[in-house]
Amino acid sequence: MSDDASAIPSPSRRQLLVGGGAVAGWGAALALGVDAAVAAPSSAPAAVPSQDTAGLRGASTVPFHGPHQAGVTVVPQAHSTFVALDLVDGVDRDALGRLMRLLTDDARRLTQGLPALADTEPELARRPARLTVTFGFGPGFVASAGGEAPGWLGPLPAFGVDRLEEGWSDGDLLLEVASDDPVTVAHAVRMLLKGTRAFATVRWLQQGFRDAYGSVPTGTTMRNLFGQIDGTVNLVPGSVDAEDLVWIRDGWLDRGTSVVVRRIAMNLETWDELDRPGREQSVGRRLDTGAPLTGTREHDEPDFDAVDAVGFPVIPEFSHIARARSADPRERFLRRGYNYDLPPRPGAISESGLIFVSFQADPVTQFVPVQRRLDELDLLNTWTTPIGSAVFAVPPGCQEGGFVGETLLG
Ligand code: HEM
Repeated sequence: MSDDASAIPSPSRRQLLVGGGAVAGWGAALALGVDAAVAAPSSAPAAVPSQDTAGLRGASTVPFHGPHQAGVTVVPQAHSTFVALDLVDGVDRDALGRLMRLLTDDARRLTQGLPALADTEPELARRPARLTVTFGFGPGFVASAGGEAPGWLGPLPAFGVDRLEEGWSDGDLLLEVASDDPVTVAHAVRMLLKGTRAFATVRWLQQGFRDAYGSVPTGTTMRNLFGQIDGTVNLVPGSVDAEDLVWIRDGWLDRGTSVVVRRIAMNLETWDELDRPGREQSVGRRLDTGAPLTGTREHDEPDFDAVDAVGFPVIPEFSHIARARSADPRERFLRRGYNYDLPPRPGAISESGLIFVSFQADPVTQFVPVQRRLDELDLLNTWTTPIGSAVFAVPPGCQEGGFVGETLLG
């Protein structure tokens, strides 16, 4: 290598702008743009960097009040944090009423772009970006409230594929905080947790993400970290089916629902060993378009009877979609998964998976039969392992002046 300074090429404009020339004295140039820094006399007003404002929606809000809690049927936001809390000893029905009034009030404000009560960083509340906060009650919460728990509220039956860790399972109170802006999510979670301090401790917290807002057209089905289009066959919010299969119709949960949160590790390292046809056969769909192996477009109806030239089913009988589909139309639910991606453990290069989330009126009759079939046989099981599981009752929404949980605690 030459040590003649003249042999060192001067940094290109692009290198400077992207940081290749980030040496002392160039900081201002980097901030202003090189041309502005070189040409402008020192008294000239600072150049304002151009900003792309197309598609901005930091100010977008999702209504907080209504018959149902927001966050169940809203078009999924890009980021979602799920926090499960354990109630501390001695928290009784009155205390739970105070807690839920407080949390409802903060959620109501934050989702509308207003600071929480005693917000220490009010500026972070100004950009809700479709923030929703959804509350769920575990069996311990309902018992402490002296309420009647639905028969399905409790741990799911054990499945052979489960390798559940306590640190990702169960809990008394769930907060799901979702927004298109991760800064907003972090702030809202912190504000809400401040309100819970005297009542509960954090049991687990799971952060998930989908495609960023602006990176794909709104309404595009998400991709999971196996690269699959995930969520194609799903209940459509607002449809007759969804109204019937998602919402509960009686008791304190009238217009509420249930949520199943399963943390499923996805082994990307062994997935890497599988070729593309193998990957597509394991789920029964193409990776590029998400079309069933018997079709060409994502929403084409799969033909489970189609066979290839040698008589084998085109969609393998043990593929994920063949096993997940039920002949009973009541065995369906609204899936809203989120990817997770954590720092790898020593020796590995990934620690990734899916926060599988489903909403249904009754997990035992709708979710469990599907999970049972997948447990018995599903090619995808080779690369997936459930490591967390929790079920919560999601109470109905509330009107102005009311609070979430009032049908149980009011
Ligand atoms: C990490 C774990 C999982 C992955 C990577 C995964 C991935 C997928 C993919 C790619 C599809 C096809 C596209 C679609 O229709 O969404 C699908 C469909 C489906 N999955 Fe999963 N899934 C997982 C876990 C589960 C679990 C735990 C359940 C429920 C117990 C489930 C239930 C379903 C259902 C009901 C369908 C639609 C089947 C149909 O075509 O009727 N999945 N999944």
